Amino acid sequence: MNIKPDFSKNANMAETAPAFLSVWDMHAYYGESYIVQGVSFNVHEGEILALLGRNGAGKTSTLRSIARIGSPLVTQGEIWLDHQPLHKMASHEAACSGLGLVPEDRRIIPGLTVEENLELAQIAPPVGWSLERLYDLFPRLGERRKQEGVTLSGGEQQMLAIARALARDIKVLLLDEPYEGLAPVIVDEIEKTLMHIKSQGMTTILVEQNAVRALELADRAVILDTGGIVFDGTAAEVLENDELRAEYLAI
Ligand SMILES: Nc1ncnc2c1ncn2[C@@H]1O[C@H](COP(=O)(O)OP(=O)(O)OP(=O)(O)O)[C@@H](O)[C@H]1O
Ligand SMILES: [Mg+2]
Repeated sequence: MNIKPDFSKNANMAETAPAFLSVWDMHAYYGESYIVQGVSFNVHEGEILALLGRNGAGKTSTLRSIARIGSPLVTQGEIWLDHQPLHKMASHEAACSGLGLVPEDRRIIPGLTVEENLELAQIAPPVGWSLERLYDLFPRLGERRKQEGVTLSGGEQQMLAIARALARDIKVLLLDEPYEGLAPVIVDEIEKTLMHIKSQGMTTILVEQNAVRALELADRAVILDTGGIVFDGTAAEVLENDELRAEYLAI
């Protein structure tokens, strides 16, 4: 089992990192509170990485740091996406550089239909994900394209939030607790969609309280505890390790 990624031979990851997304020595603060305490990990192209840990471990803060969603979080560290140093870009530039965060509260825009929510996110002209392709992926959204987004069911709103991230023509999908509050049958549907998106080459970081479901879907896992990484390895290793699950995931 590989506890903590070994970057010791590789002080400057830009030169040699084989990973698609590299997070290197990330620190983040809310005012005086030191929350993300030197987190480093790699995500390979096309994989699903489960980012796990107990409540308050720093999962959301880590996702926000990667997505460069600043205020009130102050971050420091390196983020390399497809050889691009996101940490050196202005935040508005980084926001268009290929990371799509789907926040826990989904942030569907009130007063806009499903289609308008998607159109607002879409880059012009759409490169990868046209509206038709998104509706093929989420037929429920196609059926409800003229319905106001905020009147959708919880599961449909989650689908819209994911579709909206894809519409921005992203390279990495960052999902913060996508299954929260959803019935198992809807979770099944979202899982199938995530597998389909993966088969199209998408790279995903999945933060989830439902660790077993996340591990069953994921290729690899990183476990956070009080703002630091305590495990970096395969999802299967976590599923097989009762001690690790009991200590850091309470399952
Ligand atoms: N806006 C904020 N201001 C100050 N402290 C914050 C803020 N947001 C989060 N924190 C603190 O940062 C720590 C990590 O929170 P974070 O939301 O990243 O954890 P998490 O792993 O996502 O937890 P959960 O599983 O409950 O979603 C917690 O101690 C939390 O209280
Ligand atoms: Mg969280």
